[in-house]
Amino acid sequence: MEKYLKKCLCGFSNYETKLIKEKYVVNANESPFNIGEDEVLRNIINDVVKNFNFNKYPDPNANELREELAKFVNRNKENIICGNGGDEVISLAIMTFVEPNDTVVVHSPSFEMYQVTSTINYGKIIKVPDLKGYVINTKAIIEESNKNNAKILFLCTPNNPTGYLMSREEINEIIDNTQSIIVLDEAYIEFSDLEEYDYTNNDRVIIIRTLSKLFGLAGLRIGYGIGSKKMIDCLNKVKPPYNVNGLTQAIATNVLRNKELILNRINFFKNERDRLIIELRKYNYLEVYNSSTNFVLIKTDSIYRDSIIKNLEKNSILAKVYNNKPELENCIRVSISNREVNDLIIESFSVEE
Ligand SMILES: Cc1ncc(COP(=O)(O)O)c(C=O)c1O
Repeated sequence: MEKYLKKCLCGFSNYETKLIKEKYVVNANESPFNIGEDEVLRNIINDVVKNFNFNKYPDPNANELREELAKFVNRNKENIICGNGGDEVISLAIMTFVEPNDTVVVHSPSFEMYQVTSTINYGKIIKVPDLKGYVINTKAIIEESNKNNAKILFLCTPNNPTGYLMSREEINEIIDNTQSIIVLDEAYIEFSDLEEYDYTNNDRVIIIRTLSKLFGLAGLRIGYGIGSKKMIDCLNKVKPPYNVNGLTQAIATNVLRNKELILNRINFFKNERDRLIIELRKYNYLEVYNSSTNFVLIKTDSIYRDSIIKNLEKNSILAKVYNNKPELENCIRVSISNREVNDLIIESFSVEE
């Protein structure tokens, strides 16, 4: 089969996904809240499904959904593009701008889909390692981007998997001192305290957001991009016409019309995240990183790592354990779940010294 395969796929393995057998799943930064558990939202969804025209193609431009998203982020509808998850918007950006052998700059460690999708599209990845403590190296990113004439540059902030949040000054310093397209992946922005900033007057910038995290709609697959009209027009050149299915559009539109029911959960996430960090820091064999997201990254020593993994398994918790990434050696990432599961996570990190 190899002889038929695109050259860029030889020796290439995709983003790793796992068959789940554990009871508590905290490996994918999902929300512990299922919107169907809220009576008001459940009734809204039931009505949407009852009245849905399954025989019709969806609106290719997702007009109603874009209108609600625009209200949510305080922009205009023309500044929004919807994708089948944020993953698809990442893919649209790469397909729109990256030609074979164009340089794609990412900081490392970060979200793997930038590398996966760039590789599939014959982009040449340059990774800029973080500084100590997973601080994103702004200066090196600018240097590498300019030196290699980067076509596109990914900034994930707050960053997955480290939780690190860049300051507005750092982000703007990179934008102002480089020439490439800049993808600002803000999948976790609602969990941070960063003030909003409008980049729609800059044609080089595209922001990526998602309803998978705070809104707890990962199963529906809705991501969106925010950019200038020119940027959105470019991305629309490669967008498949019916990329966001009709039921997803209808449910998401109606959930957004009742967004207060979801937004009031932000404090829960922040409080539980801070509690988890404080409790885990009591174990002096762990390094627990600050987080502006709905997850926490923890580094330990190889002598404690196996006992922690055993405890997680015993408690039927699926966490994200990093096995073969030197930059994340002995690291484990856990999503913020409900209080009981968070307690169980804290207990699982307790091992004999
Ligand atoms: C940084 C980052 N960007 C984008 C995504 C994609 O999210 P989705 O495709 O579910 O919208 C994720 C998902 O985990 C993520 O961590």
